[in-house]
Amino acid sequence: MAVRIIIGAQWGDEGKGKIVDLLSAETDYVVRYQGGANAGHTLKFDDKTIVLHLIPSGMFNGDSKCIIGNGVVIDPTALVEEIKEVEELVDINLKERLFISNSAHVILPYHKVLDQVKEKNRGSDAIGTTGRGIGPAYVSKVSRIGIRMGDLLNQEELEDKIRRNLADINDALKHVYNEPELDADEMIEQLKAATATIKDYICNTTQILHEAIEANEPILLEGAQGSLLDVDHGTYPYVTSSSPTAGGACTGSGIPPLAITHSLGITKAYCTRVGNGPFPTELDDKDGEKLRKNGQEFGATTGRPRRCGWLDLVALKYAVRLNGMNELALTKMDVLDDFETIKVCTHYELDGETIHHFPSDSEDVQRLQPVYKSFPGWQTDTRNISSFDDLPENAKSYIKFIEEYIGVDFTIVSTGPKRTETIVR
Ligand code: GDP
Ligand code: IMO
Ligand code: MG
Repeated sequence: MAVRIIIGAQWGDEGKGKIVDLLSAETDYVVRYQGGANAGHTLKFDDKTIVLHLIPSGMFNGDSKCIIGNGVVIDPTALVEEIKEVEELVDINLKERLFISNSAHVILPYHKVLDQVKEKNRGSDAIGTTGRGIGPAYVSKVSRIGIRMGDLLNQEELEDKIRRNLADINDALKHVYNEPELDADEMIEQLKAATATIKDYICNTTQILHEAIEANEPILLEGAQGSLLDVDHGTYPYVTSSSPTAGGACTGSGIPPLAITHSLGITKAYCTRVGNGPFPTELDDKDGEKLRKNGQEFGATTGRPRRCGWLDLVALKYAVRLNGMNELALTKMDVLDDFETIKVCTHYELDGETIHHFPSDSEDVQRLQPVYKSFPGWQTDTRNISSFDDLPENAKSYIKFIEEYIGVDFTIVSTGPKRTETIVR
């Protein structure tokens, strides 16, 4: 049975939500394994639109069990709001569908404040985080002072832990950052209120998944962010604080590597990035503006305009290698429909040398000069095409060139945000 990881092959927002929603009809479990409410996964089906931040994108197509795995960092208040949104959108019994790992770490208000204060302090070197407390929550986890979802069920000990942590944090806020201190009582009350809604979902999700694997039940693992935002393999320090890449799927769910049968990479037909950091193929011209306009490239979580540029095949190949991707989905093909000329980056020049790999040092990435191959556009509407053979010849040539360069075929080509606007090969 398939255990398939779905991973962003770029800097996030590749359309993972759409593809997970599409494929979830054929699976028994959909599992988020890292990140938190920094993610914004947009789903469009029937006449409905929803942006999910924490809840896996498998809620609306079929009846798979949706698991928020141990590797995710959860803001309980954001989760409560999202549960409400899902329940308002569709008639659903979440008690049978949603499972939250008792080992997942909790994002507390102090993590969000620290995230924002640290960004402010970085000035022009700011990472451009989503301000959702992601980095500081993972710092708490790794430094072993974190609060886990299971701890929410033990109120007394929880209060002690929060007060202890907050004493240190208030010290830093006051003396290091010159910011107002935070109130423990208020935080505890807020957490109590959220816990009342989510307590029944908290359980040992690793065990559920182990049993599912033994019963040969299909599983989808839904990555958040993207390979180039990976804390180890991305454009450090302009990255997120978790591991969206394949290894993170194992540690963030408890699923062992040898159980994984498929690694599906999602890439747009061009590139985007939100926040700061190097982006070799970024366009600061009318083509970049047109990509943003055609693709509605504004952040699903923060509303920030996304930086846009041509597809970077060197970066894509790097992502394929990092994750052992053996399947690819190409999204937002339709965004290129009215371009006269389309470019892809095939290699770089770095300090006068030709480079065919993605450098590991962000300062090198910053200095890369992309070298492009140009393709004539197809200049027709691809939105309602449902078979690969019916795509315009120029679109097929563009796709085939990418496949040959990367060495992996596209099993899915997406030509619009809706479920129905998809070619499955
Ligand atoms: P995710 O974070 O990877 O799930 O992606 P986002 O939801 O942040 O951003 C992708 C955006 O593109 C969303 O608004 C989707 O509705 C939209 N989208 C997904 N696939 C396509 C496509 O093939 N064409 C177009 N035009 N939009 C798409
Ligand atoms: P999805 O899952 C795009 C970016 C932020 C910032 C950096 C660090 O929707 O693809 P963080 O708040 O994580 O500490 O910010 O990572 N970032 C994303 N960019 N899509 C996302 O998620 C992102 N999540 C974080 O913009 O540059
Ligand atoms: Mg997104």
